Amino acid sequence: MAFRPPFTIALSLLALSLASGAQAADYPSRAITLVVPFAAGGPTDVVARTLGAELSKELGQPVVVENRTGAGGTVAATYVANAQPDGYTYFIHHNGMATATALYPALKFDPLKSFEYVGEVVDVPMTLLARKNFPPSNMAEFIQYAKANADKINLANAGPGAVSQLCGSLLQQALGVKFTTIPYQGTGPAMSALLGEQVDVLCDQTTQTIPHIQAGNVKFYGVTTLQRISKLPDAPTLDEQGLKGFEVKVWHGIYAPAGTPAQDIAVFNKALKTALKSPAFTSKMADLGAEIVSEDRQTPESLQKWVKSEIDKWTPVLKAEGMNVN
Ligand code: MLT
Repeated sequence: MAFRPPFTIALSLLALSLASGAQAADYPSRAITLVVPFAAGGPTDVVARTLGAELSKELGQPVVVENRTGAGGTVAATYVANAQPDGYTYFIHHNGMATATALYPALKFDPLKSFEYVGEVVDVPMTLLARKNFPPSNMAEFIQYAKANADKINLANAGPGAVSQLCGSLLQQALGVKFTTIPYQGTGPAMSALLGEQVDVLCDQTTQTIPHIQAGNVKFYGVTTLQRISKLPDAPTLDEQGLKGFEVKVWHGIYAPAGTPAQDIAVFNKALKTALKSPAFTSKMADLGAEIVSEDRQTPESLQKWVKSEIDKWTPVLKAEGMNVN
C-alpha cells in the first residue's frame, strides 16, 4: 500500500467532509418522488398529494406523487426497498406495512430492515358503506340482511394488505358470514364501482368517503372507531350498534430506502413537521375526518417503534385466521 503523509490524509478527510456538508446544504437539488402504494384518487393518494404540495413549498423542489399499485401495497414497498437510497425517493404507507409480513410469507422486503423511518402523518377512521340502493337502511338491518343473504353480497376492497380488506375481513368474522370479495388496485376504483352500483359493500377511510356520505351518494352504516368522530358526530360506531369491540383505525407513515443519508432524512422530517402544521394541510385533513398525529409521533423513532408494535400485534391474529395469500 502506498505511503500517504499525514497531511494528505487530513486534506482528504477535509475534502470529504466539505463534500458531504455541501451535499446536505444543497439537498434537495431536484424533484423528490413520493411513492403511493394504491391507485390515484383514493384515500392514501389524497393524503400524499395534499402533503406533497406542502412539502414542495418547504423543500423548494417538486414532490412528485407516483402511484405504484398492486398486492395490497407490497409492490410499491418492494420497489422503494430496492430504490437508490439517495434522498430522492420516499414512501407513504399505512397499516399494510405491519400486516404484510403475516399476509405475504414470500415478501421481498423486511418492514423493519429495508427502510429508514421518517415519521407518522395522520390517523384516519374508516366507515362502512353500501351502494345507494342496497336494501338495508341502518346497521341493525344490515346485520340481519348480511346474515340472510351473505352469498349474494359483493364486498369491494384493495386486496390483502389493504385496510379495506382488513376491515372487511374483521366485519365478516364479527358477523359470522362470508361475502364474495372483489379486489381493486385501491379504494379509489373500488369507490367508483360502489357509486356505479357494480359492488354492494365497501369499508373505506373517511379521507375518501366523507364527501360521498355528505352528498348522499351511498348508504352509510357507521364508523369503525370505538368513539364517534367529530366530523360525523351523529354517526354511530359499529361498536355501539352490536359489533362490540369492533375497531379499525388507519395510521400513515413516511419511509425511505434503507441507507438514505441521515442528514437528508433530517431535512425531509423538518419539512414534514412544518407541512403537517400548514393551514392548507390541516384544513383539508379536518374536512376529511383525518387527525394529524401529535408532534412526538412525527419522528423516525416513534414510527419505527409503532411499526414494530403493530407487527407484533397483527402477525399472530392474521396467522391464526389463516389470512396469508401465498
Ligand atoms: C387506498 O388508498 O386505495 C386505500 O388506502 C387502500 C386500502 O388500504 O384500503
